[in-house]
Amino acid sequence: MIEVNSLTKRYGAFTAVDDISFSCQPGRVTGFLGPNGAGKTTTMKVLVGLAPATSGEALIGGHRYADIPNPGRHVGVLLDASAQHAGRTGREVLTLAAMEMGLPRTRVDEMLALVSLTPAEAKRRIRNYSLGMRQRLGIAHALLGDPSVLILDEPANGLDPAGIRWMRSLLKEYADRGGSVLLSSHLLNEVELIADELILIGHGRVVAQGDKQTLLEGTHHDVTLVTSLDNTALAAAAEEHGFSVEAAGQGLRIGAATVEVGRLAADKQIVLTDLRSGASGLEDLFLELTSSTQRDDLGGVA
Ligand SMILES: Nc1ncnc2c1ncn2[C@@H]1O[C@H](COP(=O)(O)OP(=O)(O)O)[C@@H](O)[C@H]1O
Ligand SMILES: [Mg+2]
Repeated sequence: MIEVNSLTKRYGAFTAVDDISFSCQPGRVTGFLGPNGAGKTTTMKVLVGLAPATSGEALIGGHRYADIPNPGRHVGVLLDASAQHAGRTGREVLTLAAMEMGLPRTRVDEMLALVSLTPAEAKRRIRNYSLGMRQRLGIAHALLGDPSVLILDEPANGLDPAGIRWMRSLLKEYADRGGSVLLSSHLLNEVELIADELILIGHGRVVAQGDKQTLLEGTHHDVTLVTSLDNTALAAAAEEHGFSVEAAGQGLRIGAATVEVGRLAADKQIVLTDLRSGASGLEDLFLELTSSTQRDDLGGVA
């Protein structure tokens, strides 16, 4: 398991990670979600000993990474899928790592098969790999030593939706066997697919954490997103009832439960084309965090 306690990381006067605390439990996939620049990679670097903490601690199984003998047998790490030596083949990278960890060569073939890299692909140099192939190789590398903890930075980057689904089942099986997974992403819909637990980070601080279901459902159920054939009339009717109304995409966001909005529309004989609960506490929070920096990525989220 992973434990991060009051971790702070400063670069000069800049605070990249600001007093964050969280833990990742065995049997769970924990998503580390936040916009670019939020501090995810920095946190993971401290966790695996690539950057010193300014204060606080980051422990894996109760130890600092640097103090774990043969760490690859305990912790699988994928930090930057493009950081592998571009001139080596996929098979060479795994074979070298297997030798370093004292693992049999057969483990390399097992891992290649697990991540669906064909023998022909494994013979290619990494510089000719697509980002998705690099991610698969990185995951094979992380899993090679049969570790009980996985730390994966943006592993879904470059994977297509089928690849993301593949990774979810891989990580779910891994967690079901008792492993702990911490994986980061800057895309809500990606982690939503993969993780059981979520830690939402913005500007170096944890702004929400907990069970995914609970976080996604949010605490307010009194916001409705609605589209109708006459939004103007529907807005007027909602305001008459004292509900808040604002424009949202093609429709309206109304501060009332869906049943209330449905009733209003029925009363006024307005045809609804879309009606759904609009409040996801997490989604709102994430949009708030991302709105200033990540406009390009909102497509899949909104
Ligand atoms: N070596 C460094 N020196 C100075 N600033 C850094 C360094 N590494 C990261 N940062 C800054 O720390 C912040 C967090 O970065 P990072 O952890 O990479 O975020 P994320 O992975 O969530 O996108 C960013 O503002 C980044 O520019
Ligand atoms: Mg990062």
